[in-house]
Amino acid sequence: MRCPANPLGWCKLVRMQIQRHKILLGVTGGIAAYKSADLVRRLREREFDVRVVMTSGACEFVTPLTFQALSGNLVHRDLFDEQAESAMGHIQLARWADYVLVAPATADFMAKLAGGRADDLLTTLCLATTAPLILAPSMNKQMWRNVATSNNLRLLLSRGVRVIGPVEGDQACGDKGEGRMTEPADIAEVMHRWVGRGCLSGLSVLVTAGPTQEALDPVRYLSNHSSGKMGYAVAAAAADAGATVKLVSGPTSLATPFGVERFSAVSALDMHRCVMENILGSNIFIGAAAVADYSPAEPAEKKIKKSSDGISISLHKTRDILADVASLKSRPFTVGFAAETENVETYARSKLSSKGIDLIAANDVSKSDRGFESNDNELYLYWKGGSKVLGLGPKIQVARKFIDVIADLYHEKYPA
Ligand code: PMT
Repeated sequence: MRCPANPLGWCKLVRMQIQRHKILLGVTGGIAAYKSADLVRRLREREFDVRVVMTSGACEFVTPLTFQALSGNLVHRDLFDEQAESAMGHIQLARWADYVLVAPATADFMAKLAGGRADDLLTTLCLATTAPLILAPSMNKQMWRNVATSNNLRLLLSRGVRVIGPVEGDQACGDKGEGRMTEPADIAEVMHRWVGRGCLSGLSVLVTAGPTQEALDPVRYLSNHSSGKMGYAVAAAAADAGATVKLVSGPTSLATPFGVERFSAVSALDMHRCVMENILGSNIFIGAAAVADYSPAEPAEKKIKKSSDGISISLHKTRDILADVASLKSRPFTVGFAAETENVETYARSKLSSKGIDLIAANDVSKSDRGFESNDNELYLYWKGGSKVLGLGPKIQVARKFIDVIADLYHEKYPA
């Protein structure tokens, strides 16, 4: 079977794009600079041509010789190096790059970039290039959280700079928290997907995420514990896999993932409407939102006054977005989630068949280290004739593996 929204076919698209992409890797002066040596190796394994530019701070951590040996190219360090300029001048270098990746990107480097400074070779190249600019930040967690860094990040994102990470974990200073540079293998993987070799290249994906809020009166609502983290991770992973991604989100405080188009919805009814308005042309639908099953039948127009006897509220069933998408005439490959507290497989499989979907990802929300609000999750995947467990890990990592399974099943159902 061939998917109508993907007439070219995935394999053809992937084959057409196999070529050596050129990455200019900027290394700035942070403790994670030593990891960038491994990053060079990982990028070369993925068929990238790599040239390295080091700041003077980076040279305090790792020798240029290390990068020269690993990249197979002279390392560039100085804006005023006559020898290097005669070999490949800085403007030529800026033109050479298909991508400029700065890893690690320190807080200071981000500040310089946000301010448009060009006082060394790397900042000058960043200003002079027209290639997409990607940063893998690395810094202490307080520095990452500092409002100055957040403002710089926002400014850079608004200019189209892409950011990979940082991730949570142990830090060189002894702290634990968000600020570690994303692991080199993961950065190489994201780069690989961004250059169009991703498993969802050429496909459109619609994801729902977060909770819904069902108004009781103008000041109160019924909702649930969904933070949106899982759905946002799925949207980010789908975009990293080369898909065009739309995200219909309930109320959350999360930033829209890079490359994802976001639509906001508040109630289950809003979310249903927004999904139906955007579903046309989607190849894949992933319902990760915790949509309220019930909504107050008649929300009060004015604030409900306290009553000593208590009150009773009449609820009506909301429309099932997932089931409605699955029953569309020209339906996308439809994926649902199941939040369960017991009998995970039985309940998940029953939703798989009652909602008529292709794949369901169940999570055990009775455990506090996964599911709702947590940064980690474990998913039990079920489809007709198969199952797979995606072990406990950060939601973005689980989401990437989930996307790989979705891509495999999609391409099996719609071979090129
Ligand atoms: O947001 P986080 O804090 O990261 O938490 C992630 C999560 C636990 C919310 C997520 O992993 C998850 O399990 N989402 C689905 C939660 C849910 O509503 O499960 P359910 O078993 O009640 O619903 C089954 C499926 O039907 C879901 O895909 C849901 O989106 C969909 N549904 C439900 C009701 C409805 N009216 N419309 C729907 O589309």
